[in-house]
Amino acid sequence: MSRIRASGPLTFATYMEAALFDPDDGYYTTRASLGFEGDYVTSADLGPAFGRSLARGIADLWLVMGKPATWDLVEAGAGRGILMRDLLGALERERPDAARGARPAIVEVSPRLRAQQSLALEGRDLRWASVARSLAPINGIVFANEVLDAFPVHVLTRTADGVREVFVGEANGRLAEVLRAPSTPDLRWRIPEAVPIGGRWETSPAAEGWVASLAAALVSGYVVLIDYGGDEAELLTRQGAGTVRGFAQHRLIADPLAEPGLHDLTASVDFTAIRRAAEGAGLQLVGTSTQRDVLVALGIRESAARPATPIEQLRAASRRSAIDALLDPNGLGAFKVVCFAKDAPSEGLRMFGGARPESAARYP
Ligand SMILES: C[S@@+](CC[C@H](N)C(=O)[O-])C[C@H]1O[C@@H](n2cnc3c(N)ncnc32)[C@H](O)[C@@H]1O
Repeated sequence: MSRIRASGPLTFATYMEAALFDPDDGYYTTRASLGFEGDYVTSADLGPAFGRSLARGIADLWLVMGKPATWDLVEAGAGRGILMRDLLGALERERPDAARGARPAIVEVSPRLRAQQSLALEGRDLRWASVARSLAPINGIVFANEVLDAFPVHVLTRTADGVREVFVGEANGRLAEVLRAPSTPDLRWRIPEAVPIGGRWETSPAAEGWVASLAAALVSGYVVLIDYGGDEAELLTRQGAGTVRGFAQHRLIADPLAEPGLHDLTASVDFTAIRRAAEGAGLQLVGTSTQRDVLVALGIRESAARPATPIEQLRAASRRSAIDALLDPNGLGAFKVVCFAKDAPSEGLRMFGGARPESAARYP
């Protein structure tokens, strides 16, 4: 509010950036709280099955890269660090040959979450960086789960008088939306023709720039991105309804201007824009699918022998219900998984319905 009083309305993107990442008051900097005890859960919070399946997908990528003796395994935006922990554990158990040469690293901007990550990954030899560039040259795999949705978005709206951008100003002592001409001329062209008058469109040059920064740091290998959202056509079925929302203690905060910094803020990812940015930065699309299809293809439902004792049966039932949640077509299962390659094979991957790399003739 003090910033707005001093210098006038901010674009929604600048407001969201400050609400999430301001060094003194931002949600991710000062209070981000993930997991069942916190504000929201991600797939990794539902148990080790997600990390184990992802480890299989990553081992496949390692195989098609030709089993490099050393390779980078980079998680970008690692939250509490439990996905990296589960993934490394599963890799060591299921693919010790791949795990042996893995050089794990995390790209993380939140000092608070970095501290939680080092606790979860205690005893491991792991590098941290706040930008991917510091880890370059990366030869291997970069993955990010539910990170793109945290990037600030510009909110555009079509009015009878043309395209306007949503700014955040002050009215009667409270934060309030103000419509103005787009803050930069190129934003005007980012709203699809099909958005009706009164409809909104969110666009994130910051997320696109971040994907380009991952691509620039990668010399050879893959970038795997998992998130909610859709391609442009899917997002247009919302008829211009915006997707910005907040979460605090698992409750949806419908008004993103309420109590900035006290809750998470997020928007659905425009995967068409992300793909354009990735391809513009030298990545090649390998495949795209839903989390449900990818996890099933990676064998998430393949379980070990039938549990013998009642307590083991109970544990197995709880694991099964976590897997059902990860595959829920109306929930986590609808998330998108997209994989890009740079100077690495891009066909026949098991996660997108290809054969297992080891059984495919073309991969020796
Ligand atoms: C919603 S959490 C997801 C955490 C984790 N990937 C998971 O699956 O549980 C988003 C994470 O991305 C981090 N993050 C946000 N912007 C980032 C950026 N520009 N670079 C690196 N990490 C970022 C946040 O601090 C947080 O750790």
